Amino acid sequence: MIEAIPKIYEAAKDFMPLLGTDYVELYVSNSKQAAHFYKSAFGFQSLAYAGLETGLKDRESYVVVQDKIRLVLTSPLKSGTAIGRHIDQHGDGVKVVALWVDDATYAYRTAIERGAKSFCEPVSEEDEHGKVVRSGIYTYGETVHMFVERKAYDGPFLPGFKDWKTPDFNPSPIGLKYIDHMVGNVELGKMDHWVNFYEEVMGFVNILTFDDNDISTEYTALMSKVVSNGNGRIKFPINEPAEGLKRSQVDEYLDFYEGEGVQHIAVATDDIISTVRQLRSRGVEFLRVPDTYYDAVTDRVGEIDEDIAPLRELGILVDRDDEGYLLQIFTKPVEPRPTMFFEIIQRKGAHSFGKGNFKALFEAIEREQALRGTL
Ligand code: FE2
Repeated sequence: MIEAIPKIYEAAKDFMPLLGTDYVELYVSNSKQAAHFYKSAFGFQSLAYAGLETGLKDRESYVVVQDKIRLVLTSPLKSGTAIGRHIDQHGDGVKVVALWVDDATYAYRTAIERGAKSFCEPVSEEDEHGKVVRSGIYTYGETVHMFVERKAYDGPFLPGFKDWKTPDFNPSPIGLKYIDHMVGNVELGKMDHWVNFYEEVMGFVNILTFDDNDISTEYTALMSKVVSNGNGRIKFPINEPAEGLKRSQVDEYLDFYEGEGVQHIAVATDDIISTVRQLRSRGVEFLRVPDTYYDAVTDRVGEIDEDIAPLRELGILVDRDDEGYLLQIFTKPVEPRPTMFFEIIQRKGAHSFGKGNFKALFEAIEREQALRGTL
């Protein structure tokens, strides 16, 4: 591993200040059922709705929320739409990673001047709650970054959406708080291209690099670089496949997604044991590492606040870096194709991504791939 750049965030050329992740929009084949899944399984709450009742003719979106995380689930209402074609090619997946900015027109113009491809020019939308300006650029694959300027808006989500209230479906809170990072899978040889895109077009900085010696098992390998924006709130690891004896998880993703796209969304919690216990009781399926992982864990990471027994019971992984440690676990894919999944992460000082878990984790993924016949 190449060492993290000291004072990493100061190194970012922060000509494009980003305040945080605004929302993530998934194109899915059944938005109503997907919304129910994220509420019942992941503990989100109903927030907003747009569709026939709000004057849309061709699509429907449900917005669910948990603390700072907003997911928009969008489906077409008829054949022949761009959304329908996206779903036909990629299956359910992330279309938009929206970034919260002070000035969506400035962000757009800056990105375009610096080489970004336009998705949509700045559009101002208004309703009785005020005004939102949005603009959009393409990133890897067909994935889009929307810039969202909402300083003059106090509505539930965006103009055009109405309140969507359903009975609270949370017997006990799950505790998902914010998006910690989102990972993109890109084609062989394209990782540096997209790292360069984030550096040049958006002012991000490459804070960590993993080569195929860091991320390999007996059979498969991948490479990864992590880019971060200036304030460290937005972190995007970018993976590309590497040469191995068998097909890596990134190859499998690219085959099934039929292109580059978002591989996982990592969400932060302050109490991973409670969060994972809740998610499991609601039917969320997680990857398992062999039980022997826990025999060696204390030797590897030293003393931690948590007992090992519940970590072992729930399959939660631990890793340490110079600044502290982190706890993490990965779900199985949440759609029919083996593409996107979620990570649950609790950071206790560590700013890294769990390098010490890569091998055990990727061997667990290989076992799943073998079951699917895609290894
Ligand atoms: Fe991750």
